[in-house]
Amino acid sequence: MASPQIHMIITGAAGGIAAATLDKITAQYDGHLGLLDINTEGLNEMAQKYTRDGLKITPYSTDLRDHKATSDAIHSFGEEAGGIDILFANAGIMTAPGPFEVTSLDAIERSIDLNFGAVARCTHAAWPYLEKASGSVIVNASGAGLKPLASDVIYSSSKAAAIMFTKSSALRTKETGICFNAICPGVVDTPILNDSRTGEWRDEVHFFTQHFELIQPEEIADALLNLIVDTSANGEIIEIINRRKT
Ligand SMILES: NC(=O)c1ccc[n+]([C@@H]2O[C@H](COP(=O)([O-])OP(=O)(O)OC[C@H]3O[C@@H](n4cnc5c(N)ncnc54)[C@H](O)[C@@H]3O)[C@@H](O)[C@H]2O)c1
Repeated sequence: MASPQIHMIITGAAGGIAAATLDKITAQYDGHLGLLDINTEGLNEMAQKYTRDGLKITPYSTDLRDHKATSDAIHSFGEEAGGIDILFANAGIMTAPGPFEVTSLDAIERSIDLNFGAVARCTHAAWPYLEKASGSVIVNASGAGLKPLASDVIYSSSKAAAIMFTKSSALRTKETGICFNAICPGVVDTPILNDSRTGEWRDEVHFFTQHFELIQPEEIADALLNLIVDTSANGEIIEIINRRKT
């Protein structure tokens, strides 16, 4: 039997959660994937690894903070693929080690612009294609957007904004035909934690892993796949929490 078709954009596609997602999506779907990331080398590796008969992968080396480059990449994919069913707005970064008051304004702006701004911009660029396909936007937010995180208040706040963007947009689904859902993972074992193993975060992550299991990226990929399969899901904010060590 032929595999179902998918036309999907994944941002932050060279990262840890994206890799687990690509493992699962490429095993189950044919179609066309558009991968966006600032890490050109990582992106090309992903494209090479997962391209196969029936599944085309186009990498777009893009800084998602660059408005025009982001919109050009998404339009180019939408035209080449003949549509977009799913936008997985996954790219995100921690802000900087150290408390808010000593964090540079550049780092603050970068974090807000990626964790929230890029979610809105990618959705805006993909909108005509998503509307035509009655597609869906799945935001990879964070548990830190639901509960406050003192050690990175900008990360926490920008993820909260991404969650509210999802919830607010989901209220318009009857009018737009586009579904909006978000996944809110706890602490996941991916390269993002390497950033946090400096300064305050390193101590925080170390303390955390003494008491809690890290979530594996495959769990996030499973949650994403469930949202893709359940086409009626809308306005869902799926929290994935760390299990306490026994
Ligand atoms: N790992 C965790 O503990 C955790 C927990 C909750 C939420 N999240 C969220 O999950 C998402 C994926 O994170 P991950 O854990 O896979 O981290 P990761 O660091 O492995 O992946 C993030 C990807 O985003 C890319 N990126 C960074 N800045 C970019 C930019 N300006 N333009 C384009 N791409 C850029 C990076 O190159 C990287 O490939 C993020 O939004 C993160 O906030 C992660």
